[in-house]
Amino acid sequence: MIRHWLVVGATGGIGTAVARELAKRGCPLTLIDRPDSEHTLAENARDLEVRYQAEVSVAMLDVLEYDAHARVLDDAVTAGESFGVVLAHGVMWPQDELQRDSQTLRRHHEINATAPMAFLERAAERMETAGRGQIVALGSPAGDRGRRSNYLYGADKAALHCQLEGMRHRFAGTGITVTTIKPGPTRTPMTAGMDKLPLLAEPADQARRIVDGIEKRKSVVYTPPVWWPIMHAIRHLPRFIYDRLDL
Ligand SMILES: NC(=O)c1ccc[n+]([C@@H]2O[C@H](COP(=O)([O-])OP(=O)(O)OC[C@H]3O[C@@H](n4cnc5c(N)ncnc54)[C@H](OP(=O)(O)O)[C@@H]3O)[C@@H](O)[C@H]2O)c1
Repeated sequence: MIRHWLVVGATGGIGTAVARELAKRGCPLTLIDRPDSEHTLAENARDLEVRYQAEVSVAMLDVLEYDAHARVLDDAVTAGESFGVVLAHGVMWPQDELQRDSQTLRRHHEINATAPMAFLERAAERMETAGRGQIVALGSPAGDRGRRSNYLYGADKAALHCQLEGMRHRFAGTGITVTTIKPGPTRTPMTAGMDKLPLLAEPADQARRIVDGIEKRKSVVYTPPVWWPIMHAIRHLPRFIYDRLDL
């Protein structure tokens, strides 16, 4: 496995847990999040240094600041160094608001899809120079089939899945691998206050399975794995049945 990892969204529920799991396995880290999270980012870094003697640096980035992507990567990674990126940032705003307000929808899509896509392309350029690298991004089963309650968030994730699939094709047979993570509902700030979430998973358990998948350089990781057969069935349900389900 690559040693140096950049984690974007490193103060989020899943990002924090993934960073901790990577530190536990001896990886040097660059923790990245929005400037508003600077204090939490510094606390998280200190925690990993004390707990696991990890080598940790931090960087501020709002992913919507496209022009800052290259600078953040160049500050974090020395030229020609092989590194990995875990994109673990994201938002899930209420579907009714996204349906109603075009500007909110645009911003949501940019945070979840356009901006991370641009960031991944900048990272991929640097990995190509190094000849090695690992790209990992948090997608979602919600991107596997649109459903009435969250198809706009799902559409963001479907766009990201398609980019990752394309990058996997582009880098096949090279030292660069691409992993799409599709977590089921996980107990984090993103899902706080949402009731009726099926099979709610804990971030630490998710992080362990995510980093296992990263170590094995898997293409797609459903976590917990039971979401693979569930989504396989949902994707293949005939429309006349699917349309009657309250999802
Ligand atoms: N939780 C789930 O059930 C679940 C299920 C499937 C997929 N996912 C995906 O997994 C990823 C992590 O989710 P989570 O549950 O850990 O969410 P979370 O706890 O809400 O964390 C999201 C992180 O993204 C950061 N972020 C938001 N906007 C950003 C921006 N413009 N630039 C940079 N960072 C930004 C947040 O920073 P601030 O705190 O500073 O805003 C926060 O650190 C997301 O992509 C999510 O869609 C989550």
